[in-house]
Amino acid sequence: MFNEEMRSEQPIRWAMVGGGRGSQIGYAHRSSATRDGHFTLVAGAFDIDAERCRDFGTNLGLNPERCYADYQTMFAEEAKREDGIQAVSIATPNSTHYAISKAALESGLHVVCEKPVTFTVAEAEDLKRIAQEHGRIFGVMYGYTGFQMVHQAREMIQRGDIGKVRVISMQFAHGFHSEEVEKDNPGAKWRMNPEVSGPTYVLGDIGTHAFYMAQLMTGLDVERLCCTRQSFIASRAPLEDNAHVMMQFSNGAVGTLWASGVNAGSMHQQKIRIVGEKASIEWWDERPNQLSFEVQGEPARVLERGMGYLHNDDSAVSSDRIGGGHAEGFFESWANLYSRFGTVMKAANRDDQATVAATWFPGIDAGIEGVRLLERCVESADNDAQWVKYYE
Ligand SMILES: NC(=O)c1ccc[n+]([C@@H]2O[C@H](COP(=O)([O-])OP(=O)(O)OC[C@H]3O[C@@H](n4cnc5c(N)ncnc54)[C@H](O)[C@@H]3O)[C@@H](O)[C@H]2O)c1
Repeated sequence: MFNEEMRSEQPIRWAMVGGGRGSQIGYAHRSSATRDGHFTLVAGAFDIDAERCRDFGTNLGLNPERCYADYQTMFAEEAKREDGIQAVSIATPNSTHYAISKAALESGLHVVCEKPVTFTVAEAEDLKRIAQEHGRIFGVMYGYTGFQMVHQAREMIQRGDIGKVRVISMQFAHGFHSEEVEKDNPGAKWRMNPEVSGPTYVLGDIGTHAFYMAQLMTGLDVERLCCTRQSFIASRAPLEDNAHVMMQFSNGAVGTLWASGVNAGSMHQQKIRIVGEKASIEWWDERPNQLSFEVQGEPARVLERGMGYLHNDDSAVSSDRIGGGHAEGFFESWANLYSRFGTVMKAANRDDQATVAATWFPGIDAGIEGVRLLERCVESADNDAQWVKYYE
């Protein structure tokens, strides 16, 4: 059971780059990071517009002097203060992640960055190297992986409850971009622009979530894949609003990933189904407190969060905040991740490498694999859906 007495005594002094007024995901970061007392927001370069940043940050209760016009100024000025920031979360559009993350690490800050973490694998690997050199933590906000039932699935699969994995079905397919909504929505518009979004749209924006979820649950490596992608709204070309990927995994398993913004009528449809030799497990982010467990030849079971029959040696139970029957949701999942980010950042500060190594959290390796997926998908799709090796 989650124990609020285990809050860190001294919260980490924390800032955000991006996530300003009206942004899609800024509030999720702030409400989750500060939930359990691990982080306290003391500064920000929240917005591309300096005046709006200052107004917004002041309204959040920050010292106006610590609401900065840009991240470069923030990192430089905060480094001069005795009570300067120790960590930063980056929630800006994709094209800026690499430069901001690099600058943050080089300023000695721990980083939590949004996905996709960079445009290229080389850039993501560079961030890994810089983080290691500076002894800093690099977390990646795969926000759905804080859900307890995701970890229950991981533990059941690792324990062999479904037998050897045969088929992995991944999808994140919403309907919100079935029409050309980007005409009036700046938060959607940049996602369709390759200069800001990167080499993909739906694959990077949502496909990376489903892919990482499956990697986390199964621990399997992809060997090769093929991808086809389309722009059903023509103006989105060359970026895709729909994509299908087929994959072969190292243990002989096969998989599919469907990423779409034009699944008309659908809310999220982020569903992961792992089929083993004797049973299947399925998790759906619209019913995150439940996990389907279907053993061949037996009645289907639905496992419920917060129950005594769950595994009790990792996050399925240790993150439980309220007990079974009550719905925990998106913000609890994010807070569970921020709790882990806080734990490992504090451990890194006191050079407690054992705790860092023993604590699971989505780190830079997860970020690298997300970007590798995108690189390979583009390579395949641009060659008429040819099969390509996942690792070069
Ligand atoms: N993990 C998730 O579940 C999740 C969900 C949504 C978005 N995201 C990711 O979060 C990031 C932001 O997405 P969003 O939908 O919130 O975007 P958005 O367009 O809604 O907001 C972006 C914010 O960043 C600010 N900004 C832009 N450039 C900046 C700069 N150089 N310095 C400081 N601030 C800057 C903007 O003013 C705005 O406040 C993207 O990488 C996206 O992929 C992740």
